[in-house]
This record gives sequence, structure tokens and C-alpha cells, in this order.
Amino acid sequence: MQGRTGDHACVLQVRDLHVTFKADGESAEALRGMNLDLRQGEIHGLVGESGAGKSVLLHTLLNLNRGASFVRTTGRVLYEERNLLELFEPEIRRIRGAEIAIVFQEPAKHLNPGLTIEEHIRDLLRYHLGVTRRPAGARTAELLELVELPLRVLRQYAFELSGGMQQRAMIALAIACNPRVLLADEPTTALDVTVQRQILELLLRLRAELGLSVLFVSHDLAVVREVADRVSVLYGGKLIENAENSALFDRALHPYTELLLRSVPSAAMRGRALNVIPGTVPDATAVPPGCAFHPRCPIAAERCAIELPELRAHHEDHSVACFFPGQLVEPAGRQG
Ligand SMILES: Nc1ncnc2c1ncn2[C@@H]1O[C@H](COP(=O)(O)OP(=O)(O)OP(=O)(O)O)[C@@H](O)[C@H]1O
Ligand code: SF4
Ligand SMILES: [Mg+2]
Repeated sequence: MQGRTGDHACVLQVRDLHVTFKADGESAEALRGMNLDLRQGEIHGLVGESGAGKSVLLHTLLNLNRGASFVRTTGRVLYEERNLLELFEPEIRRIRGAEIAIVFQEPAKHLNPGLTIEEHIRDLLRYHLGVTRRPAGARTAELLELVELPLRVLRQYAFELSGGMQQRAMIALAIACNPRVLLADEPTTALDVTVQRQILELLLRLRAELGLSVLFVSHDLAVVREVADRVSVLYGGKLIENAENSALFDRALHPYTELLLRSVPSAAMRGRALNVIPGTVPDATAVPPGCAFHPRCPIAAERCAIELPELRAHHEDHSVACFFPGQLVEPAGRQG
């Protein structure tokens, strides 16, 4: 059984997720009450500036936060009626890589330097599917073909591959066990345009053929616009807008989303100064009170610095966390 939002089956539901780290002795809240639904068979784009919490969200879904700076996670990640955050490590390990797979933002950090690409894939197939040597060999070759890597890569170590090849090897590993959910953190960033296109087409095909559900993080809004069915915008560790693709790109309601879209260079702007969002993303150790975007928002009112706007449905299937949705175009000076 899966969760539902309205009439839509959800494969993953995130509820009130908080993640805290320690940075230079200070508490850093990377996620501050994140809620998100990943629907069955959708490609769900996650966008937001650097430091918004996109990678932390993906790592938290698979309970991967580690290290001395990690303090705690609270909230729920619901999958198959279980809260993944409550599972013991052997249980979550059976899901990780087999049912929910991740393509890490920095593949080199996550590929074992002591294993060849073939050993990575074989170990995964043996662990999750109990596949023995010969069938594993056939599947390994098939995976490499899917991500358009030459067979010689099987005998190579990650450090012998280019950034783009590492990324494709990581994608091959992620889809090796035919997962239901793929968490893809900037999966095409290090790739040139032609390979990027192949990977995007592969994702679309896997979604169509296997019903794969994908959380797709990208800083490239043009790519998100092209492949995502639905888009969520993150700011300061919270989800601030969520809508179906065309609603978000054509009728953004949150001032931050609107400014983010306006900052994308276009041919029509040739020769003109780029639109940039004033100010910087808040540091996780010092997120402003009230609406975290208020120091940068051109239409911020008094209440924005005091009250926290909750994510609410503005109209069907389009949610936003702002006291004045859709009003960026109006003159400033409104009173809260
Ligand atoms: N291990 C950690 N220790 C301390 N702070 C962390 C740690 N991991 C993440 N953070 C902080 O959490 C916040 C969110 O980081 P995250 O990596 O999720 O950003 P992001 O949205 O993925 O950015 P980018 O687009 O640059 O990849 C940042 O302020 C970051 O400094
Ligand atoms: S709540 Fe206020 S500060 Fe925040 S985005 Fe909306 S108008 Fe701007
Ligand atoms: Mg990241």
C-alpha cells in the first residue's frame, strides 16, 4: 500500500523533516520542517540555490547522514507504510540501492577506490539479488551499454575515469537492481550536452518502462523544465513552492521562485545585464526568523520578518509558503 495525496499514489512521503549539524560549534539546521510527496512514476524536480538543503534531503531519505558534525534527524520518511528513519541499519541497507537508489552529487567520493567498476556492480547484484558471477556479467555489460560507457571501464577504478564517466558509472550502479525510486543529485552536471541528453532520455525511458519515480536535483532550470512532471523549490531548508511543471514555470507564486526563473539567461537578454537575486542564501547556522527569504525579498512586509509562512495550497495542486503569493509584480510598500 502506498500513501496518497488527493487522488495520487505516493511512493515516498516526507513529513516535518528536521536535520541538524554542528558547524564551528554552532547548530546548523540544514532542513527545517521539510514536507514533500513523491508520486508514483513521476520525475520530481528539486531546485534552489546552493546550500538550500537539496543534498541533505536526499541523504536523509536513505538515512545516510554521518560524521562528527551530524547531530540529529527528526520527522518521518514514509515508504511502504514504514518510517525509514526508524529502521535498523541492516533493514535500511536492504532497501538502499535495491528499492531506493541514489546518484550522489560527487561520485568520486562515493565510489570505493579499491574496487573496479565491475566489482562495484557485481557486489551490488550479489548483495541485493543474490546474482552469481555469470548472470551478473551479462547484466553488468547491459548496464554499461545503457549509460553508454565502453566495456573496458569494467576493469578500471573510479580514479582512472573522467568526471563524466564516473557520473555515468554511478548511474549504472543506481539502476542496477531496477529500483522503484531514484534519488538523483545533479546527475548530469559533469556531463557534456550530448551525454546529458542521453542520460535524460534514459531516465525518461526508465520511468516509462519501469514506472520509476525520480527525485531529480538540478541547478539547471532548463533541464528541470524539460524533464520534470512536478517541481519543488527549496529555500533555507524548507519547501517554499510546489506545483506541476507548467504551473510553476508559467505562473510562479513565490517571489523567490519568480526571481530564480528571471535569473535564467535567455537569448532575448543578449547584451543586457543578468538578473541576479540580491543578497545570499542564508547560512544554516543563521537562518533569518519569520520568512527566511525576507531580507532579500523585494515585497517583504513587516509581518514577514516575524511570522513563518506555512506551505498552503493556493489553488489545486499548487502550494506556496508566502503571505503575498503571486504579488511580486505589484509595487512594493504593501503593509503586512
Ligand atoms: N556534514 C555537514 N556538516 C555541517 N553542515 C552541513 C553538512 N552537510 C550540509 N551542511 C549544511 O547544510 C546546508 C545544506 O547543504 P546541502 O549540501 O544540502 O546544500 P545543496 O542545496 O545541496 O547545495 P548545492 O547546490 O551546493 O549542492 C548547507 O548550509 C551546508 O553547509
Ligand atoms: S512571506 Fe513575505 S518575505 Fe517571504 S516571500 Fe512572501 S512576501 Fe516575501
Ligand atoms: Mg547539493
